[in-house]
Amino acid sequence: MTASVRVAGTDIAFDCGPDETVLDAAERAGYLLPYSCRKGVCTTCAAGLVDGTARQSGRGLVEAPSEDLLLCRATACSSLEIAPASVTRGEPPSRRTMTATVHKITRPAPDVAVLVLRYPIGKRVRFRAGQYLTVRLPDGDTRNYSMANPPHRNDGVLLHVRGVPGGRFSEQVVSGLRRGDELTVELPFGGFTVDAVSSRPIVLLVTGTGFAPAKSIIEDLIQRRDGRPVHLYWGARTSSDLYLADLPSRWASRYPWFRFTPVLSEPDARWSGRTGPVHRAVVDDHPELSDREVFACGNPAMTDAARSDLLAAGLPPERFHCDAFVPSGLGDQLEPAAHQ
Ligand SMILES: Cc1cc2nc3c(=O)[nH]c(=O)nc-3n(C[C@H](O)[C@H](O)[C@H](O)COP(=O)(O)OP(=O)(O)OC[C@H]3O[C@@H](n4cnc5c(N)ncnc54)[C@H](O)[C@@H]3O)c2cc1C
Ligand code: FES
Repeated sequence: MTASVRVAGTDIAFDCGPDETVLDAAERAGYLLPYSCRKGVCTTCAAGLVDGTARQSGRGLVEAPSEDLLLCRATACSSLEIAPASVTRGEPPSRRTMTATVHKITRPAPDVAVLVLRYPIGKRVRFRAGQYLTVRLPDGDTRNYSMANPPHRNDGVLLHVRGVPGGRFSEQVVSGLRRGDELTVELPFGGFTVDAVSSRPIVLLVTGTGFAPAKSIIEDLIQRRDGRPVHLYWGARTSSDLYLADLPSRWASRYPWFRFTPVLSEPDARWSGRTGPVHRAVVDDHPELSDREVFACGNPAMTDAARSDLLAAGLPPERFHCDAFVPSGLGDQLEPAAHQ
């Protein structure tokens, strides 16, 4: 049975099918709600439940009032009234599932693999800089990886995958991949994207392979001759973890609007650059944050600390954009909905 979902304080309402998450139903109806992992881990999609009963997988029945219903994991058991952090009207996303062929694998650092995947000849998939795809594992589970290529290069994808010890995809699958192997991917997902009409200066704050979506965003700004000021901070433990640092260094020497600050938390004696937690360098360099858009991506501990310290330093909450690389293999299967 289909249930009706109303958005509190608006005239927005949409139908939610029995096996649909509230997030999926909203998208299908053309309403964009905040989300990141879609796996019930990052809490970006948390919304108030003002009225009704929902079922959240891994948590069971949730009855109103509740502050923290995860819409990416919630199905409707009755008509619902929800209070998400934001809602905007938009086109329902046109996602595609593609068979992509491994064209090339390089290892710019011992624990980072760069995968070049190509679609079948003549196929292209549109996406926005900063978005991610899902890779399907043999048992149907999925993992999220951000596109590192800019959107105008859309006949395939470039992924930066950091090896997690014991990781099913990042170690077990990636170590066995060879040129010509096939992977099933679905894209695009995510709202970690730059507003093309804004001219506010951008601060990109990344750790590890969080550089991947930053690279896509910067190469897109270059392609579009955008010209707004962009400052990239790339945090890592040691200089060898900055696996493609030559690239942002080249951008910095070529484009006057671009600055690059690498920051190490465990530097060796030869390092003469910035040290400490990467988000603290942003706070130190930008005492006036109120006119900036900040995009933080990578280690969840960094994105959490950055959110807390940057908001305390005056950054308006709506200008803090975040894709925390939470483990994306923890998503349990959705429990079947029990509409009443
Ligand atoms: C929106 C989004 C975008 C992402 N983009 C990227 C990307 O561009 N590049 C990239 O390298 N990763 C990215 N990730 C993380 C990625 O999706 C996987 O979670 C990660 O690669 C581990 O998958 P796995 O199958 O190898 O490990 P799993 O088999 O899922 O996990 C193995 C073990 O490692 C733990 N674990 C998993 N991930 C981590 C972690 N990050 N840190 C510490 N322990 C962990 C698990 O809890 C488990 O115990 C992204 C995540 C999200 C949510
Ligand atoms: S998007 Fe729902 S918890 Fe991450």
